[in-house]
Amino acid sequence: MKVLFAASEAVPFIKTGGLADVIGSLPKELLKQGIDVRVVLPKYADMPQTWKEQLTGITNFTLRLGWREQYCGIQTLQYEGVTYYFLDNEYYFGRPGLYGYGDEPERFGFFSKAVLEALPHLDFKPDWIHCHDWQTGMIPVLLKAQFQRGEWFHGIKTMLTIHNLKYQGVFPIDQMKELFLLDDGYFTGTALELHGGGSFLKGGLQFADVLTTVSRTYAEEIQTPYYGEYLDSLLRYRSGDLYGIVNGIDNEQFDPMTDPHLVVNYRDSLTKKQQNKLKLQEELGLPVSAETPVISMVTRLVQQKGLDLVRHVISELLSLDAQFVILGTGEHQYEELFRWAAREYPAKLSAQIRFDDGLSRRIYAGSDLFLMPSQFEPCGIGQLIALRYRTLPIVRETGGLRDTVQPYNEFTGEGTGFSFANYNAHDMLHTVRRAVYFYRNDHEAWAHIHRNIKKLDFSWKRSAQQYIDLYEERRAE
Ligand code: GLC
Repeated sequence: MKVLFAASEAVPFIKTGGLADVIGSLPKELLKQGIDVRVVLPKYADMPQTWKEQLTGITNFTLRLGWREQYCGIQTLQYEGVTYYFLDNEYYFGRPGLYGYGDEPERFGFFSKAVLEALPHLDFKPDWIHCHDWQTGMIPVLLKAQFQRGEWFHGIKTMLTIHNLKYQGVFPIDQMKELFLLDDGYFTGTALELHGGGSFLKGGLQFADVLTTVSRTYAEEIQTPYYGEYLDSLLRYRSGDLYGIVNGIDNEQFDPMTDPHLVVNYRDSLTKKQQNKLKLQEELGLPVSAETPVISMVTRLVQQKGLDLVRHVISELLSLDAQFVILGTGEHQYEELFRWAAREYPAKLSAQIRFDDGLSRRIYAGSDLFLMPSQFEPCGIGQLIALRYRTLPIVRETGGLRDTVQPYNEFTGEGTGFSFANYNAHDMLHTVRRAVYFYRNDHEAWAHIHRNIKKLDFSWKRSAQQYIDLYEERRAE
């Protein structure tokens, strides 16, 4: 089975969000399970030099995009056994950053078309092109509309994985018509039209053979108006082709036993974990205290992550006998909220408004609780890393959070964390209080939850198998 992953970011080359973690770890497991999987990415200027130096050129070709003839170079490198292709065009990708430019449809339109045109040059005919998020949503459209007429492309199937339905790649229809030379029929409400524009994501949702998303609950949720982002009726219509497969994490990359950023490595020892906590408190200038629970958030500071709930009850949270640690960047209003809280309550909250991989790992290791009250969460990776670092998650029961964190039930002893159902600040506050209560007063319960966490496995093994089953089952049709 041959599979080509097409995506806009992947660890360790370039990352803005959770998508990059998935593209950087799932292929490795698929390869292990016998799939000839390769990955194609844009070659961004911001990719670190050490990777650029390892690239070797394969070939180049020119490609027509609207009225433009564009150059496309194909370069390659191997990483952990997986072949990565990088599509190179200075004009589109030789700029800082990944997203947010005015010519976004042209940049990712170029990428999508170039992925298809590169294949014959690579002499690699995949059984599946596995696309991820809106940036690659036009690939299934172009394949069906233009490429599959040619013999070479015949029989290639497409899968689109939704990592976040909120990002839809909507652009003016005239521009899209001109770029892709598609006729009016493609831009009606039953095709690509969305909010009066043309949507890359909707194109993918219409034309890909199989759709997946990154947890079972999110697959259900997006078929309802609250989570559906105006695409719920389309997703209901396609529900027979829509699957939820939960993300895993790379257990080697996230391993408290070998993580070089930690002060003390550990697997299950709560004593050693506590040493990490004391060091973390010291590093962040919080009062050093083993008894005080440390509650952390490592997150992009955006609406999706439930930060308005935190803002609503911030004084109540800060009056708890607990310490808070926040790491992340994002919307100004939330950066300011946490800066303010850190100024007002320096003994209670540390706000690190930046991105720092090493510190994030020391926070996962040094915290007792990890807060993730998301409004919606397709899968979520923070809670998985937290569990791996033996930190109890407090989550809202949505999407992947619901599927990966089992709420503690003091009557049965089951559970791996704490959760609440409604998107409500006081429900969250109550759940945080409950967690702090157990931490302080019920050591037996705490130890019990830790024993439950020990049994979990969030490696990619099972989910990779599910993708392979899908590739096989749906290939035969
Ligand atoms: C997006 C989602 C997140 C998911 C990640 C990887 O970032 O918001 O929930 O874990 O994609 O699939």
